[in-house]
Amino acid sequence: MDVINEPIGYIVGGGLKEGFRIRLTVPADRVQEGSFVVCENGRFHYYGLITDLQLGSTDPRFADEKTDRLQPAIQQALLGKTLYTTLMMYPTLLMDTGPEFGTAERAEWEDRVANNLETPGPKPVKTVPAHHAEVRQANEADVAQIFGESGDGMFVVGHTIEQGYPVRLDLKKFVKRSSGIFGATGTGKSFLTRMVLAGLMLEDVAAALVFDMHNEYAFDDTDTDRMVTVRGLRSLFGSSKVQVAALGKGAMVRGKSPDFTLEIAFSEIEISDIEMLSNELKLTDTSQSTLNALFRSFREDWFVKFIKLEISEKITDEDGKKYYPPNSVGAWAEENNVHVAAANTLHRNRLDRFASKAYVVERPAGDPVNEIV
Ligand SMILES: Nc1ncnc2c1ncn2[C@@H]1O[C@H](COP(=O)(O)OP(=O)(O)OP(=O)(O)O)[C@@H](O)[C@H]1O
Ligand SMILES: [Mg+2]
Repeated sequence: MDVINEPIGYIVGGGLKEGFRIRLTVPADRVQEGSFVVCENGRFHYYGLITDLQLGSTDPRFADEKTDRLQPAIQQALLGKTLYTTLMMYPTLLMDTGPEFGTAERAEWEDRVANNLETPGPKPVKTVPAHHAEVRQANEADVAQIFGESGDGMFVVGHTIEQGYPVRLDLKKFVKRSSGIFGATGTGKSFLTRMVLAGLMLEDVAAALVFDMHNEYAFDDTDTDRMVTVRGLRSLFGSSKVQVAALGKGAMVRGKSPDFTLEIAFSEIEISDIEMLSNELKLTDTSQSTLNALFRSFREDWFVKFIKLEISEKITDEDGKKYYPPNSVGAWAEENNVHVAAANTLHRNRLDRFASKAYVVERPAGDPVNEIV
């Protein structure tokens, strides 16, 4: 393990919001966007990420004109001094290493740490290092300091870009709070999610109920960059640890049969479920009052009773009187003082969409939802 790294530059500006600006003192190709860097300034160690590399110059004339017509010595002098590279460091964490060793403050500080009055671990960054403080690349010990040492429940989720130091996740801590994985498309969110889920299962720290909209996690997937197969959770852990459910009878997951299928009964759909989808279904205020009227007339059976009503125009009897036929939406609407056209729209364009889904049925085969719970 190399503990000390050479400095790669020094702080020349920036701030907490915009990040620290670093003048690079090594060739630019030694540092990449996304690498972990450390700035040790007195008792504080700043940890951060490189978010940008920029070409700068103290005099734009030398940047605009090629330097190869100059003598090599002058050319060399220009590069690095007049022409240089700056890095942007996004500071993420700060570590207080305490006052200088051998001082009275040090002894007092160590006392406070021992009595839990002070926690020296990583904290959010609330201050800035001094001008010209040196910055170096994070070494294995720094990465372990921030992400954790190897041990029980510590799962390696990946490695740092340049040196390949393991980046660990404390799974026991991880499952205690909510987390999200964010990134632009194609940056590896699904890959990382699958890896974290595999870690949770391997270490047996928690059970997971995965809503897998694109059928990505259970069965084997293809690495689209290298065109090789990536093992899915089901093929890694087997059916005793991973159960795959599909929506609706006969549904397949990536061409494979699931372990069981899920169906939702008409009777399980509540008014509040529809209300939750009011944006997606483009429900209006009138449809809202129609829903309320439906519940008043039919109670818990509202969905199945309403879906079974027919949409029909008025018909004319022998005396020439026009009326909605029995069992029509119109007849129900008139009886309950609901706008007929609104009720028809709710029936035809909104709720029919649910009823026509293969997994929404009048009588489901079993009760898999309760079994899952
Ligand atoms: N940790 C990794 N190591 C190597 N290659 C990876 C890694 N993560 C992702 N990739 C590559 O990047 C590709 C896209 O990854 P992934 O499907 O996870 O991205 P995504 O962020 O989920 O994308 P989308 O937003 O389209 O769902 C993968 O097919 C794989 O080739
Ligand atoms: Mg994805």
